[in-house]
Amino acid sequence: MKRQDTEPDRPAWAPPEVDITTPSIARVYDHWIGGTHHFAVDRQLADKVAAGNPGLPDTLRANRAFLRRAVRELSALGIRQFLDIGSGIPADGNVHDIALSAHPDSKVVYVDIDPVAVAHGRALLADEPRATVFQGDLYKSQEILEAEDTRGLIDFGRPVGLILAAVLHFVPDGDDPRALVGRYTERLVPGSALVISHAGAEEVPRAAPEAAEEYRGAVSRVIWRDNRELAALFEGFELMDPGVVRAPLWRPEPAETPDPGLAMLAGVALKPAG
Ligand SMILES: C[S@@+](CC[C@H](N)C(=O)[O-])C[C@H]1O[C@@H](n2cnc3c(N)ncnc32)[C@H](O)[C@@H]1O
Repeated sequence: MKRQDTEPDRPAWAPPEVDITTPSIARVYDHWIGGTHHFAVDRQLADKVAAGNPGLPDTLRANRAFLRRAVRELSALGIRQFLDIGSGIPADGNVHDIALSAHPDSKVVYVDIDPVAVAHGRALLADEPRATVFQGDLYKSQEILEAEDTRGLIDFGRPVGLILAAVLHFVPDGDDPRALVGRYTERLVPGSALVISHAGAEEVPRAAPEAAEEYRGAVSRVIWRDNRELAALFEGFELMDPGVVRAPLWRPEPAETPDPGLAMLAGVALKPAG
């Protein structure tokens, strides 16, 4: 990735250990979703990638809007603990903002594999004892579930909202995403929730993987899945209405005019008793 010759002024939110002269995928993503944590070098890469894939920023914004609605709904159901894996930079109207405004005693743990996202997250959450972020790999469920940061905020004897938003499409079939999700959900008590969003559509056209080429080049391989494949990831849980749908169609706010064309599926499900 192209480095900037001179370092831009470092704002207070950017910790000294973070390189702000080379584009960061986490900050590119933040730019796409309308956040404020990015630099010129990130925006240049974002624009280049989006030029080849014009629907991508809208799709990611719709995904983030779905996530906010899902957390709002789960907070209304009384869920006060969230574990968000593959969170990206937890800035600008993220899970803890929604959960804490619903219930000031809510707790949120963010996990991401990207050290830059985590470093920015740590700085952003430094004064927030009810939320934390640490570096972890989704594939290492035991490490994430047993981490001090997780255990410090989350009581697994009470319902938890597990969030896997726009991350499972990086897990190929060969790595058995269903079993991977199961290693987390088996630890959750009834009344817990599973929130998933995922690149895909009702029927995945053959050409779809190629459509994701630009993003794949910039980020990593994206696997599209259809409704049926996504619904299978909720095994053992009961899907809330309206089931697995395109993200903008999941309980849209009355003022929203959802664009159902966006290629991101989403669903929320609850763990039943027994
Ligand atoms: C497309 S972003 C989604 C961010 C946020 N969840 C959202 O929906 O807006 C995907 C995030 O997943 C992270 N990620 C990818 N593979 C991961 C893994 N194996 N473990 C943890 N995080 C991962 C990336 O670093 C990135 O921040």
